[in-house]
Amino acid sequence: MIDRRPLPTLRRNLLAWFDRSHRPLPWRANRDPYRIWVSEVMLQQTTVAAVVPYYERFLTVFPTVVDLAEADEQHVLRLWQGLGYYRRARHLHAAARRLVTEHGNTLPDDPGVWAELPGVGRYILGAVLSQAFDRRLPIVEANSLRVLSRWFASRLDPREGEGKKWVWAAAEAVLPRKRVGDFNQAVMELGALICTPDNPKCGDCPVRNQCAARRLGLQAVIPPKAARKETVAVREVAVVLRDGNRLLLCRRPPDAGRWANMWELPRDVVRDGESEPDAAVRVAAERLGLGVAAGVETVAVRHGVTRFDITVSAVEADRAPNQKVRLAYYTAWRWADRQSASDYPMSTSMRKLCDELTNPGRQKRLF
Ligand code: ADE
Repeated sequence: MIDRRPLPTLRRNLLAWFDRSHRPLPWRANRDPYRIWVSEVMLQQTTVAAVVPYYERFLTVFPTVVDLAEADEQHVLRLWQGLGYYRRARHLHAAARRLVTEHGNTLPDDPGVWAELPGVGRYILGAVLSQAFDRRLPIVEANSLRVLSRWFASRLDPREGEGKKWVWAAAEAVLPRKRVGDFNQAVMELGALICTPDNPKCGDCPVRNQCAARRLGLQAVIPPKAARKETVAVREVAVVLRDGNRLLLCRRPPDAGRWANMWELPRDVVRDGESEPDAAVRVAAERLGLGVAAGVETVAVRHGVTRFDITVSAVEADRAPNQKVRLAYYTAWRWADRQSASDYPMSTSMRKLCDELTNPGRQKRLF
């Protein structure tokens, strides 16, 4: 299934091209395992262009694993705000704490230790240990699965089932004995710069003569495109409770999925048959123990999360005087003005909503 004959030339050509052509990205400056680890966690679901400014800020604030371990999780989430997939940040932080307390502040050259850390799957383990210590471990991510499928003209879907098994085996089979980390990065770099999903630049490719898809003219159809998932529309309501120019914000519980431990306007899915204002009254009662009268919807934001197309509508609410907040579901609440709201980690869409609602031009109540 894997033709090994072209491999020695392929490795040589690819590494020579990488030495000549790689982008000088900030995580390539040295082989510090902590810096590599942070970069690979950020890059796992996010483009290089989006990651670079976050990476530089994160490393300035937390230059070592000890700095990260000592940080408050809220601070880590705040620095991650806007990158998405916040579970990565919570896991990175929890793993840093484990390394500091259980492994004497070091990031060891030991796959057994890494495999036990939160958030470390086969990709992160291979990426960090190959780049930091030149361990002969494979990686597969969005770029490399395309490159590998094309090199060997595999018609399987490398994202699932047998195809996924095949691509990991291929990633392992192609590894050189030395410069494993550079080789892994070179495969990704080739995918990013030359072996792109559409219109790959085969004429510029350093390994075009070792590529089976190119030889067979199949580069446009390998790998098969990922099936488009149907999107599902979801309506959500966010309750706007004001105290002068301040908004009531709540912190989600630690087991609350992708935005766990992050802050938001009290929010929930609008149920079938419910209007947005009805949902606002229900959310205030259920989650804050407050009786409110709901006004009209003022602003809405729309955002896509996986296959969900979510519209969050903000509904202004008036509470009867002298009621105390009794939290259910949420773990904390605060009044926050425009300035202090910016300190709380929030999803991008919730940040947009809060910015809009605290915009001085929009303070008046729209009942
Ligand atoms: N994507 C994932 N890891 C990467 C890396 N080290 N360099 C460039 N792109 C990547």
